[in-house]
Amino acid sequence: MNARGLEKNPIGLAIVGCGKVGRIRGRCAAEYPGTEWIGCCDVDEKRGKQLAEDLGADFFTTDYRELLARSEVNAAVLATDENEHAGTLWAAIEGGHKILVEKPLATNAVESAKIVEAAEKAGSDLLVGYTQRFRRRWLIAKEQVSSGQLGDITSATTRAFLNRMVGITRLEVNEDRSKLSPMVISGTHALDVIFWVLGEEKKPVEVYARSVEKTLTGIGTKDATFSIFTFEDGTLWSMSCCWSLPVVWPASTYSLEVGIVGTEGVLTIDDTHRDMVMASEKPWQTHRGRRDEKYVTFLGSYPSGDMVDGQFWGPMREEINSWLARLYTGVKTPHATGADGHRNLMMTMACDLSAKRKKPVALPVSPEEIEEDL
Ligand SMILES: NC(=O)c1ccc[n+]([C@@H]2O[C@H](COP(=O)([O-])OP(=O)(O)OC[C@H]3O[C@@H](n4cnc5c(N)ncnc54)[C@H](O)[C@@H]3O)[C@@H](O)[C@H]2O)c1
Repeated sequence: MNARGLEKNPIGLAIVGCGKVGRIRGRCAAEYPGTEWIGCCDVDEKRGKQLAEDLGADFFTTDYRELLARSEVNAAVLATDENEHAGTLWAAIEGGHKILVEKPLATNAVESAKIVEAAEKAGSDLLVGYTQRFRRRWLIAKEQVSSGQLGDITSATTRAFLNRMVGITRLEVNEDRSKLSPMVISGTHALDVIFWVLGEEKKPVEVYARSVEKTLTGIGTKDATFSIFTFEDGTLWSMSCCWSLPVVWPASTYSLEVGIVGTEGVLTIDDTHRDMVMASEKPWQTHRGRRDEKYVTFLGSYPSGDMVDGQFWGPMREEINSWLARLYTGVKTPHATGADGHRNLMMTMACDLSAKRKKPVALPVSPEEIEEDL
C-alpha cells in the first residue's frame, strides 16, 4: 500500500466470451498498466483466437474451466451469452477470482440466489455489468436524490423504448428463450438505475404488470411489459419497456425518459439521445458491423459507447477501467454488486410473473416461486 492508501495488485485477467462486450473490455484491459497477464476463451475458436491475437494475450482456450483454473488468473470478465453466465460464474467462484459478469446475472432465479450466496462466502467480490451507472447523468441523479435535494421521493416514471434489433440479436444466440423477456434482458438496465438512484431504503412490496405479444412472437418473446411497483413507504414507480420498435428506429438500443418526483422537487431525464441526430444518403453502419437500411440515427445511442479512431470511448470504458482500478488499487467504485444483480433479476422476473398471472405479485417473491410459476 502506498502513502495515499492505494494497493498495487497485479491483474491476471481471464476473458470468457470474446464477442462484442468481451472485445471492448479486453481492449481496455490490455491497455491498463496493472494488467500483467491475459487469457481468452470462446467456444467460437476463430473469434476467440482473433481477440487473443489482437490483445497480445498470453493464453487461449475454448474451455472456460481450463482458463479459470489457471494459476495466473485472479480476475475474470464473464461476457458469454446469457444462458452461459451461471456455468462460468461457478467456475470463477471456484477459482477464487474477482468477477465482473454481464447482466443478467443468470437466467434461473434459484441458481442466481445460490451463486450470490456462494460468491459472498468465497469473498469473490462479484460485480455485474450495469454499465449505465457509469454515465455522468445517472451518477449526478444518484447524488442529487441521495443528498435529499428532491425531499422524500414519492413517485417515478420510466419509459424505455428499444430498437427490435436488440431482442433479435440477443435471442438468436440463446437456444432456450423461455426467460429472455424484454425486462430480463433489457429493462433490467433501466430497473437497475432506478433502484440504485432511489436507494436501498426504498423497499418494493408489490409489482403489477401486463405484457403484450404480437410483433416479436415469431422469435419467441413479447413486445412490451408495463409495470407498477409499490414501495413500503407508498412510493410508486411506473415502468414501461417496449422492445419491438422497428429496426429503422433511429436509436441503436435504448431511448429512455425518466421523471422522479419528491416532496420538494422533481428531476426529469431525457435519455432518448434525440440531442444528436444524423441523417445521410448513406445507410448507417451499426456497431454490429452491418449496414442497416437506416438513414437517420441518434448518434451516441449505443449504450456501451463508440469506436473513434480505433479506440473505444463511452460508459463501458469508464466501467471496465474503474473495475480494473478497483482490482489494482482497491479504490471504491459504484458497480452493481452480485446482490444488486440478483435483486434486478428477481424484480424483472416478478414483472413477467405478474404479467403471466394477470395479478399483482407481492414482493419479495422467492426464487423458487418464480421458477415454479414463470
Ligand atoms: N453491460 C452492457 O451494457 C451490455 C451490453 C451489451 C451486451 N451485454 C451482455 O453481455 C453479454 C455478451 O454480449 P455480446 O454482445 O458480447 O454477445 P456476443 O454474442 O457478441 O458474444 C458472446 C460470446 O460468448 C461466446 N460464448 C458463448 N458461450 C460460451 C462458453 N460457454 N464459453 C466461452 N464463450 C462462450 C460466444 O461464442 C460469443 O463469442 C450478454 O449477456 C449481453 O446481454 C451487456
